[in-house]
Amino acid sequence: MFTPRCAAIAALTCLTALAAPLATAQDKVLNLYSARHYQTDEALYADFTKATGIKINRVDADDAGILTRLKSEGASSPADVILLVDAARLWRAETEGLFQPVKSKLLEARIPAGLRGADTGQGSSWFGVSTRARVVVYNKTSVKRDDVDTYEELADPKNKGKVCTRSGSHPYNLSLFGSVMEHLGPQATETWLQGMVGNMARAPKGGDTDQIKAVATGECQIAVTNTYYLARMMRSGKPDDQQVIDKVGVVFPNQQSWGTHVNIAGAAAAKFAPNRAAAVQFLEYLASDSAQAYFADGNNEWPVVKGVNLTNPALTAMGAFKSETIPISVVGMNQGKVQQILDRVGYK
Ligand SMILES: [Fe+2]
Repeated sequence: MFTPRCAAIAALTCLTALAAPLATAQDKVLNLYSARHYQTDEALYADFTKATGIKINRVDADDAGILTRLKSEGASSPADVILLVDAARLWRAETEGLFQPVKSKLLEARIPAGLRGADTGQGSSWFGVSTRARVVVYNKTSVKRDDVDTYEELADPKNKGKVCTRSGSHPYNLSLFGSVMEHLGPQATETWLQGMVGNMARAPKGGDTDQIKAVATGECQIAVTNTYYLARMMRSGKPDDQQVIDKVGVVFPNQQSWGTHVNIAGAAAAKFAPNRAAAVQFLEYLASDSAQAYFADGNNEWPVVKGVNLTNPALTAMGAFKSETIPISVVGMNQGKVQQILDRVGYK
């Protein structure tokens, strides 16, 4: 109802005042703690609300921030669904009891077992929703592709003074190193990381996009990056980004051996989810064809569900590749050892 008095003052204020009590009385809500830092995700959430009428209240923080917050909130946490962007963080949250298992025939059918959390009979503790490969980029004029087509070669003396990366302790790198440890063992991994430190062109700093740009400007010659950062620049209309892309080559490492390291974004129902039914509904939505296509088109990630049509030109251009086949949880299990090695070899 719109009273004459309301009409007399600012209409917007009146609408807000009238709408608020109705919303709390009968609104269906989902409280989402998200570490996905991609603006394009807005459409993903809006589509869910449109389809279900469930309003999403979102808290944005990085993976570590979300875990800290969940722990401090304990049983009174309003969180229903947690979205994280790294397998090791998902594993950590699972082992710290921050998730609750979800049994869903749909999720089991659509998401491969190796991309799900532990299942003790009650369902999986988390679900991978998209994948991203950690690839090598190199300066095409100063580096030969053959010299960087394995992760091992990042530590080879032939690449001395050429390598740059973001911090070794960033989750994307910790997971890559945890994967290397699974394939090579702890001893060889320590030697490898020592070699990488010795090959650095500069101290680790910035994000993955900064490394790609540094390779293009020649500040360094070789870097590692998640594929979606690269794809984002490939699809960008900005001349600066095009110039960067023209200068760098990309290689999916270890195609002749264990395959390229692939990390995931994944989602879970929070341990104390007050809106559990909505949480399960949202998890299932993330595995739907439309949400999966969205991960590919919107943020340049690969779907986890088989048979989803790829219409993203950057992903198509990168082509098919062999990815590693380890269960993704092992990168979490190896993380403590990896961090100790990084401290020993001085990889900041
Ligand atoms: Fe990222």
